Amino acid sequence: MFKDWNFDEIIDRNGTAAMKWDPGVLTAIFGTGKENLLPLWVADMDFKSPTVVRQAMEKRLAHQIYGYSLIDPSYFPALISWYQRRHQWRIDEKWILTTPGIVPAINYIVQCFSNPGDKIIIQPPVYYPFARAIQNNGRRILENPLKIVGDHYQMDFADLENKAKDPRVKAAILCSPHNPVGRVWTREELETFGNICIKNNVLIVSDEIHCDLILPGFKHTCFPTISETFAQNAITGIAASKTFNLAGLQQSSVIIPNTGLRQALFNYIENLGFANSIGGTLFGAISAAAAYDGAEPWLDDLLVYLQDNFTYFKTYMETQLPGVTVYDLQGTYLAWVDFRNIGLDDKKMTTILEEDAHVALDHGEWFGENGIGFERFNLACPRSILTKAAEAVVSAIKNHTANHP
Ligand SMILES: Cc1ncc(COP(=O)(O)O)c(C=O)c1O
Repeated sequence: MFKDWNFDEIIDRNGTAAMKWDPGVLTAIFGTGKENLLPLWVADMDFKSPTVVRQAMEKRLAHQIYGYSLIDPSYFPALISWYQRRHQWRIDEKWILTTPGIVPAINYIVQCFSNPGDKIIIQPPVYYPFARAIQNNGRRILENPLKIVGDHYQMDFADLENKAKDPRVKAAILCSPHNPVGRVWTREELETFGNICIKNNVLIVSDEIHCDLILPGFKHTCFPTISETFAQNAITGIAASKTFNLAGLQQSSVIIPNTGLRQALFNYIENLGFANSIGGTLFGAISAAAAYDGAEPWLDDLLVYLQDNFTYFKTYMETQLPGVTVYDLQGTYLAWVDFRNIGLDDKKMTTILEEDAHVALDHGEWFGENGIGFERFNLACPRSILTKAAEAVVSAIKNHTANHP
């Protein structure tokens, strides 16, 4: 088969308003004078999207009328077929509510299914917009922290049992696969998690945006496929945006088999005033459909490239910096690195990374208190960029340690 992609290609994203590379955003997040950091932070990829995506958009673009549009009808069968093929999940079209992103969807869900003062469970260290969605809407965070057991993270089910009993708990947000720790939860782990929530009437919000980014040797289980009871008690967020690098197109969906929950959220979103009660965009739906239908070989190659990036990164970091642990990556393209054993406090570490190594990373503390001392590296970039960043980090840390024995 002819391959028209090359993940080694370096593409200049400057001047495209790419959030990850934008000097203004880098300065705003990391501080004055940080506009030139090499960015391995926000979770998008420095790779071109598949050609089929561009072709589908160009075809529609040529029409030159971009008036009020429904979600392109190709989106639904393409999504349904993808989930059937890749995840053995039979989605009924009527279960799909389109949304302009998973983060907006989580905010709507929080607003729709809880009241101010209610509690929502999250499992830190975890993707920080979950905490913001809860707090910004006047709800309370109830943490069920993940724990490190041996060389990997696990859920703390005893703690979850205790906390889920609280009658003020209305929902639990599951990150599956988990950003930032890179776990692909096993079916057994999901069963235990789901059973505890359901027994206590806690709605499960399963964010599965990374579910297509599963490294060789691991298997993702879509939460609602576990049983009919699980399906009836869950709202699952999915998108093609992480998989095919389409996040700027603002297209995602939530899948809700339960009619009552679906109707409630539909009414809620309609009251927010989206055109035709539909979230998403003209080009978002077209691009997702094209990718689902035509870019499977691209994704399969991407996963091999990401695996190789990870193998290089883990080996290099752990051999160059004894005491540093790079957690095994099962899913996502985000490596979670424990720097706690190298004897530098968190603030010093940030200074070294930004002022000496000149890299922009997601700092562990953003993901919760148990993220302090960790850094998250985005590996979805050409190997030469990753190598440059890893070498800069290693050399900056070694310099510091040599000068401050
Ligand atoms: C777990 C998780 N959920 C949601 C998002 C973002 O979703 P969206 O861009 O659809 O709002 C991300 C992006 O990094 C993520 O990691």
